[in-house]
Amino acid sequence: MLLPHRLTEVTGPLLGDSLITATDADLTMQRDGEPQGQRIIVTGQVLDSDGRPVPDTLIEIWQTNAAGRYRHSREHHPAPLDPNFDGIGRAITDAGGRYRFVTIAPGAYPWGNHYNAWRPAHIHFSLFGRAFTQRLVTQMYFPGDQLLPLDPIFNSVPDEKARQRLIAYFDIDLTQPEWALGFEWDIVLRGRGATAFE
Ligand SMILES: [Fe+2]
Repeated sequence: MLLPHRLTEVTGPLLGDSLITATDADLTMQRDGEPQGQRIIVTGQVLDSDGRPVPDTLIEIWQTNAAGRYRHSREHHPAPLDPNFDGIGRAITDAGGRYRFVTIAPGAYPWGNHYNAWRPAHIHFSLFGRAFTQRLVTQMYFPGDQLLPLDPIFNSVPDEKARQRLIAYFDIDLTQPEWALGFEWDIVLRGRGATAFE
């Protein structure tokens, strides 16, 4: 889909890998010490509707720490903060449309939507296109999470197959011995297999 570039896009801040530092995609290395929790690798491809990889896409993620708490001024969940975990990462897709994060498995958290409401563990994803005015936002979930059938946000996606596409795939080949569990999650921008966006 081609949209005309207006003055906003042409004169806006430029995206590029020059602004990304080495630790931006490794959320376990951003502080002096290592964060608590299960270390995980999250990787995948950003794809167009016909399966073509989309390079140079800025991906930003944010998530809770292992205890289910965000580092945010409006966070009220009485779970411990982790001094070694901010829960924010950035990466740019390579020529094959691939991204890769190292992080900590996020925890479930209560959100007060209804009685005993808990969000399943998830990682928020934001994708920028060729300008800050082109942005897609979604959430990645984890396989086998008992909270998924109960979550109104996950279930706001009406199509069962589209919901399943929001769940990462546990990959034993991506998993690194003595180090980290591996999860694969592709993001499809449009078409019949498109990722559900918010
Ligand atoms: Fe969240």
